[in-house]
Amino acid sequence: NWSMNDFIDQQIENIRQTVGNRKVLLGLSGGVDSSVVGVLLHKAIGKQLTSIFVDHGLLRKGEAEQVMASLEGKFGLNIIKVNAQERFLKKLQGVSDPEQKRKIIGNEFIQVFNDEAQKLDGIDFLAQGTLYTDVIESGTNTAQTIKSHHNVGGLPEDMHFQLIEPLRTLFKDEVRELGEKLDMPHDLVWRQPFPGPGLGIRVIGEVTPEKLKMVRDSDYILREEIKKAGLEKSIWQYFTVLPGMRSVGVMGDGRTYDYTVGIRAVTSIDGMTADFAQIPWDVLAKISTRITNEVDHVNRVVYDITSKPPATIEWE
Ligand code: XMP
Repeated sequence: NWSMNDFIDQQIENIRQTVGNRKVLLGLSGGVDSSVVGVLLHKAIGKQLTSIFVDHGLLRKGEAEQVMASLEGKFGLNIIKVNAQERFLKKLQGVSDPEQKRKIIGNEFIQVFNDEAQKLDGIDFLAQGTLYTDVIESGTNTAQTIKSHHNVGGLPEDMHFQLIEPLRTLFKDEVRELGEKLDMPHDLVWRQPFPGPGLGIRVIGEVTPEKLKMVRDSDYILREEIKKAGLEKSIWQYFTVLPGMRSVGVMGDGRTYDYTVGIRAVTSIDGMTADFAQIPWDVLAKISTRITNEVDHVNRVVYDITSKPPATIEWE
């Protein structure tokens, strides 16, 4: 007899009790968890919530705009959007090792967030979209524990916040149900998993603005065609990668020497193991034609037909 409506009412009551007339800070990532926390908190305490959204320039096409239009535009959240694209690109210059890229992006994210948070006065609480699975993984169970998890931005070190984690008892599918109940947009609620380092690990090797554009534009085409084909819900994760290699092609009377785009699409339950998705040939053909026609400097498209293991879902 546990119902999502009861859960919402209880959480709102809890949050109001805990927060009183004090202030809460939230880091928005563009993902479903932090967005749901934002909407729930806003419902509970309105203007006492301030959100920071760091745009690191490694999001998918249209994603930052969508988050702002929905959370700020529709729901009325007070969001400080930080345009940190150049800051991240600069830090990533000359770096090609995947783990080093992850570290740089993670650290920079915390720094940008901290820089913004320092400017705010009188914040007592930090809200996070921690899920039950994160709680289990971190192996701790106290409400105040500050843990590091790959998609948690980390806490400003010299700031002493209390944590608010309203999703601590929920699994991912319950968070989605909650999002639906809160009347959040379908695209946001059913968003496929997206890694914290974003497109930074989908440009293989050094990240440059030109390569980011190729992976972002090709990814957008892939998403459009998967949606048109009605395959969104049956594929767990789908995206393009830019291996960075070039190969010979032909266009008109001329020879080209341009980039290859890889398509990765998998079915999975939890991301631990995965099978490559069996996308119909005609859909793949359409995607390939569109990518080579519409994305400059791409003359070849390949489809990744490996499962996990032995491959991973991401290429880095
Ligand atoms: P792999 O590539 O390890 O990915 O098979 C499994 C799942 O985890 C996501 N992933 C990440 N998520 N930070 C994240 O927040 C990361 O550094 C990271 N690396 C991989 C990946 O997208 C897939 O859903």
